[in-house]
Amino acid sequence: MNIMAIANQKGGCGKTTTTINLAAQLGQQEKQVLVIDMDPQGHASLGLGVSNRDLPGLYEVFSDEVNFYDIVLSGVCTGVDLVPANISLAMLESLLDDQPGRERQLLDQLEQFGGLYDYILIDCPPSLDLLSINALRAARQILAPVEASCYALDGIRQLLDIVNLLREKYRIDLPVKVLPTMFDIHTRFSQTLLTQIREQLPVGVSAVRIRQTVRVREAAWFGKTLPDYAPECTAAYDYRRLAEEVMQAPLPPRNTRIENENHITPLLTDTLTEDMAMKEHAEQVRRQMVVLTFDDIDCRRLQIAGDFNDWIPDRDIETRHINGHWQKVFTAEPGVYEYRLVIDGKWQADPTNPAEIPNELGGINSLLQVPVHH
Ligand SMILES: Nc1ncnc2c1ncn2[C@@H]1O[C@H](COP(=O)(O)OP(=O)(O)O)[C@@H](O)[C@H]1O
Ligand SMILES: [Mg+2]
Repeated sequence: MNIMAIANQKGGCGKTTTTINLAAQLGQQEKQVLVIDMDPQGHASLGLGVSNRDLPGLYEVFSDEVNFYDIVLSGVCTGVDLVPANISLAMLESLLDDQPGRERQLLDQLEQFGGLYDYILIDCPPSLDLLSINALRAARQILAPVEASCYALDGIRQLLDIVNLLREKYRIDLPVKVLPTMFDIHTRFSQTLLTQIREQLPVGVSAVRIRQTVRVREAAWFGKTLPDYAPECTAAYDYRRLAEEVMQAPLPPRNTRIENENHITPLLTDTLTEDMAMKEHAEQVRRQMVVLTFDDIDCRRLQIAGDFNDWIPDRDIETRHINGHWQKVFTAEPGVYEYRLVIDGKWQADPTNPAEIPNELGGINSLLQVPVHH
């Protein structure tokens, strides 16, 4: 059974879109697919046309009220069944908290009941909580959709941290494959980012790039998959190719298990959660102080706006004006940022910085790299 977690704790990078459209395309290829909506927001369920939030779900299964079979909706589209997200999914975390082996509950269910399917795709929430851990624990591989943004590298690093924890604690080897989504072939940044991912991180990168098209949003709005709503659009074609890639790839080897796992699990999960809290803390302290000094800009007012402050001039920025030199001081996580200056009210690229990139509006943005300090 090929269980795939579609994960990346960054929101809005295309997890849900990828889950439902990969499922739909596999279904079109006569595969039997189960989609598990693990995100309490329930977007995958909505995208597959299921808006009833009162159906029994995983919470009811894990609290032994119903059987796993009872929560599966059959044939939400060709070849695809769905475990929808319901209202109580948000409370699952606290239910699991008290259970032994709480992070392998989903795996246990799937081992018992999942055998009917060629593929099980789990749409993960944008966090690394117990729900996600359950999904990762059950999965044979991770598909990580990545949108070309300056936080993308950091997002995958955090995911890899968790994968490494799982490897250390449970000796599970979970291969990660990055899928570029909302891809704009015209920006150099997208290409640069992919090169960086390939060179710096121990992940695979899909040969497929999911292009950006307004049809994706429209289809989601109507609760339809791309093969149903717009089978000829670019993204439908891209997801079809992804399905082919998935079908051709060999199944990664089964997770290796530690014997007697149940005995040690309670202990290990505590340390796992502690480790995660430490990682989170580490993320916070990783914010770097950035000091930009502009030597040759003679003006009355100099502001800065970029990815690091939501493009609102001088928001969260300290300005210093010393001996005729402007300085901008702020903190940011490691990553690559685009920005522009507002010099006496006029937006422009930073004339003192040769690192530039064309922006969507036909202008030029400047690039700032905030390195990681260990
Ligand atoms: N290829 C694409 N082209 C255009 N819009 C897209 C594409 N993929 C996703 N989107 C849109 O981006 C937003 C976030 O996507 P979603 O799949 O919900 O991300 P996530 O599940 O990671 O939060 C949604 O509004 C979705 O419609
Ligand atoms: Mg989602």
